[in-house]
Amino acid sequence: MRTPISVLILLLAASGAMGQAPDAFLIQHPAGRASLSLDGPWRVIPDPFENGYYNHRYEPKDDGYFLALEHTDPAELIEYDFRRSQLLDVPGDWNSQDERFFFYEGTMWYFKSFEFEPRNGRSYLLHFGGINYIANVWLNGEFLGRHEGGFTPFQFEAGSALTKGENVIVVKVDNRRERDQVPTVNTDWWNYGGITRSVRLIDLPRAHIADYRFGLSPSGGIEGWVRVADSANRRPVTVSIPALSVADEFSVDYDGFANFSFDTEPQRWSPDSPFLYDVNIAYAEDRVDDRIGFRSIEVRGEDILLNGVPVFLKGISLHEEALSRPGRAWSYEDARELLQRALDLGSNFVRLAHYPHNENMLRAADEMGLMVWAEIPVYWTIDFESPAVLAKARQQLDEMIARDANRASIILWSMANETPVGAARLCFIDELASHARRLDPARLITAALDTQTTDRFKRIIDDPLASRIDVIGINSYCGWYSDAPEDCARIRWVSDYGKPIIMSEMGAGALQGLHGDPAHRWTEEYQARVYEHNLTMLDNITALRGLSPWILKDFRSPRRPLPGIQDFWNRKGLLSETGERKKAWYVLSDYYRAKAVGPTATTTNPAL
Ligand code: GCU
Repeated sequence: MRTPISVLILLLAASGAMGQAPDAFLIQHPAGRASLSLDGPWRVIPDPFENGYYNHRYEPKDDGYFLALEHTDPAELIEYDFRRSQLLDVPGDWNSQDERFFFYEGTMWYFKSFEFEPRNGRSYLLHFGGINYIANVWLNGEFLGRHEGGFTPFQFEAGSALTKGENVIVVKVDNRRERDQVPTVNTDWWNYGGITRSVRLIDLPRAHIADYRFGLSPSGGIEGWVRVADSANRRPVTVSIPALSVADEFSVDYDGFANFSFDTEPQRWSPDSPFLYDVNIAYAEDRVDDRIGFRSIEVRGEDILLNGVPVFLKGISLHEEALSRPGRAWSYEDARELLQRALDLGSNFVRLAHYPHNENMLRAADEMGLMVWAEIPVYWTIDFESPAVLAKARQQLDEMIARDANRASIILWSMANETPVGAARLCFIDELASHARRLDPARLITAALDTQTTDRFKRIIDDPLASRIDVIGINSYCGWYSDAPEDCARIRWVSDYGKPIIMSEMGAGALQGLHGDPAHRWTEEYQARVYEHNLTMLDNITALRGLSPWILKDFRSPRRPLPGIQDFWNRKGLLSETGERKKAWYVLSDYYRAKAVGPTATTTNPAL
């Protein structure tokens, strides 16, 4: 079975400060490459019994829906017809496009026909920004491959299957939850299924730029690597950054790598000054331009240093749900709309929970000056005993870092959220953290922990995972899942780790517009009261260097059915699902306005 193109040789040529090249073979910056967009209406067939794939003996058919047969002979028995089936928009989840699919979990067949004329000497990559959760892909009846994981990109070399004239893509999408998946069967977010991100047929010269990594060198200059496909022609790579007046040629080694460096001093990226440089790369007939920011992030004792200066992360968590319509966010406009609300709140930081968000979110965060906590969905009770599950988590980590390592806004890679303490879990997450550090030594590793020793008004952070990460995330719902709101202000947190702490979740639920006694749950007044007392508690955590309260806006969850209040919405948002502010919004925004972030992080530390 063909798998997504993967690099079989671990490419050590690129190791060092810029980290090892990821195993995931993903074209860098797909939106910046010549391509045919396949976004728009696709034909779909819901198939809960997978009848399009298995016969009545539950054996794979050789004449399944993936052949996309046409009805030409009235005597022939064909019991499906893509060309007369309903349409759904791609990108887009099916749950929010047709109320019959609101709760649907199962197989959905997608069909797209397009005209094309392949040329010799070209490489054609069929690239998907994300499909939740398993995708099997055919092109003109030829199986290209399978991908598992709902929130990371993947691609297949499609050249040999393309034909002149009409071409047909069929994708079997399956969002059923299984115990051995990442995430596993229970989550507190909606299981949106579908081709939820953009699809494009990328058209490249055979000898092309496959991947690249830019970053600061230890001396404050710029260094990185470019990886090329088909390096047989031994041509050099040219890298240029016009605004810094640097450009040079760099030779390509036998692994297809060109390592580069420039002795220059770029203006640093920061929330106060989110400066992005135009970078240009050329190789043989291929060209790619990107916009990249340069900054350093490090931990020193209990401080987080951005460009060598201590910083406080005034954040908010958010799921990947659009504000202006139901369902998954996926567009650049969706991203700017959501992140603008974070800026309106007074944030300089966002936690993109609980899975890699679409690439537009990260590129918008780069532009808008928001630092990012990015994470893979190792969430709650993953099967930590299973090597196969570890491989799936590691694959998603690979794909996230491969896609986003050039985004200056990302300062933290999070390995896990609220996972139960245990030996297998510690080993599992430790391996992920080590892998992330190999791939990307320039960023900090974190995880959101929810287990600590509680002694009335004392919380002792003693989860062994805290010793394996750079920054400790704590999820604590004082005043909601435990304690009375007034008790929160009396709680003292104890950490002997000497590391920075981020309160990665805190909060309470409220129905926007429901007002009443602050002692009554679901009123805006109760939620505001929880925030007030928690913020007092936070001010007493000496190692606290940031927070990302739960959550920007109400979001869909199958765990929240309370009629008239939740109706399958998690109501912990500071905004309603349509963006209406609740009282707690103002409690937090006032706190952020008053909170110093530390010396302005745009000044380059003279010591560097
Ligand atoms: C947990 C979890 C979130 C969840 C939240 C809640 O901390 O990390 O995914 O939505 O609590 O209970 O609302």
